[in-house]
Amino acid sequence: MASRGGFSNRIGFVLAAAGSAVGLGNIWKFPYEAGQNGGAMFLLVYLFFTFIICYPIMVGEISIGRRAGKDAYGSYKKIGGGRWGILGLFGIICGVMILSFYNVVAGWAFGYFLEISFGSLLKEGDFGAFFGRYTADYGDNFIFSICFMIITAFIVVRGISGGIEKASRILMPTLFIILIGLIIYSLTLENAMDGVRFYLLPDPSKLNIETIYSALGQAFFSLSLGMGALITYGSYIDKNQNIATSAAMITVMDVSVAFLAGLLIFPLVFSQGQTPTEGPGLVFVVLPGIFEAMGPLVGRIIGGGFFLLLCFAALTSTISLLEVPVAFLVDEKKLPRKAVVWILAAFIFLVGLPSMLSQGAVEAFSSLSWYDDKSFLDFVAEVFSDISLPLGGCLMSIFIAYRWKTYNMSEEIGNGYPAYKGSIIEKFVNVVITILAPIMLGLMFINTMLSKFFEISMF
Ligand code: PFF
Repeated sequence: MASRGGFSNRIGFVLAAAGSAVGLGNIWKFPYEAGQNGGAMFLLVYLFFTFIICYPIMVGEISIGRRAGKDAYGSYKKIGGGRWGILGLFGIICGVMILSFYNVVAGWAFGYFLEISFGSLLKEGDFGAFFGRYTADYGDNFIFSICFMIITAFIVVRGISGGIEKASRILMPTLFIILIGLIIYSLTLENAMDGVRFYLLPDPSKLNIETIYSALGQAFFSLSLGMGALITYGSYIDKNQNIATSAAMITVMDVSVAFLAGLLIFPLVFSQGQTPTEGPGLVFVVLPGIFEAMGPLVGRIIGGGFFLLLCFAALTSTISLLEVPVAFLVDEKKLPRKAVVWILAAFIFLVGLPSMLSQGAVEAFSSLSWYDDKSFLDFVAEVFSDISLPLGGCLMSIFIAYRWKTYNMSEEIGNGYPAYKGSIIEKFVNVVITILAPIMLGLMFINTMLSKFFEISMF
């Protein structure tokens, strides 16, 4: 274990895992998913999944990683033997694919930081049209996403405590502060309360299978669950860390940032007379509006600062996404870390090119006739994140329940938390992992498959 490196202490791990969780998923994806899926109703379902299903799954993932002390594939194989390693491989492939498109969106955020701080974005007026032009222009996107991947690789090369931990320490608190400042400002705007109502007053008629499905995918994506990222991070912590409380802290931090992002975006949407159903462009279209209203100098500083922080939040997530396949190749194939990092970064960047070109640059990628005319980026995000992460969580629960056994998991958690055994938390975690998660996630998966490919819905 010592030779693999590890987190230097408990707070280092919690911050790095929270850094992995908090990212574009919270500030870019959460608001537009909520906007498209009924606002407050989506929030409610998302909170249910987060605390009831995802928290126990997070505890499970971290425990598997710490018990085995290996990458995602090696951990499943070591504990389960033989074929169980496939679950880890599945997660690693999802990680590669998620990073491929995530890096593209991170490139947009990086471009927005530069365009707001040093360019003329705030003078554009029509921010919707600007976003459309911007994401279709592959020149800028190419450069910015390459930069992003290089920075990610630089940090991952430096390893766990050197790179990953240090990067997470200062950035999260700053992000919180700037978000709260902006929320206070946005709540004073005209019609802001309409946005608050949309976001916080649930309308039961908006509850449908689409909302449930999106909220589930969002909960997994946002918490970095279902693909072995937390197995990998869990493999770097020591035995006296309290997994149950660490997971609770990570979950609460992640949910808070997503919640605050919604509280910022929806008042702005309504005060600017926009529609919340805008889709992936939502934050990129709505946020420049308040920065513009702050005047040229202040707008540049606050707006640039905001997008810079968004880039940092994305960076602590891309780091964890890259670490998953890196740890696999280093642990299993005994390849040198540095070479593995750079080769994988280049490879994943290339895999992301069709996603980058799918926002209008190349028609064939922008509208897939065999996938509802959606973009290639949508396709990758839906298949490898929305569908695969909850499936990964389902399979992990089955693995723990029927192969590893919950008493072994309890013993592992008990190492750093002697009162765990017999506690109510243990009962809750075990019921979810053995019954609720396999059934609910399994049914959701089957329904999604049936409705996507055969247009049949069970509910
Ligand atoms: N949780 C990240 C976000 O919300 O932006 C995305 C992510 C990172 C997903 C790491 C999965 C992962 F393993």
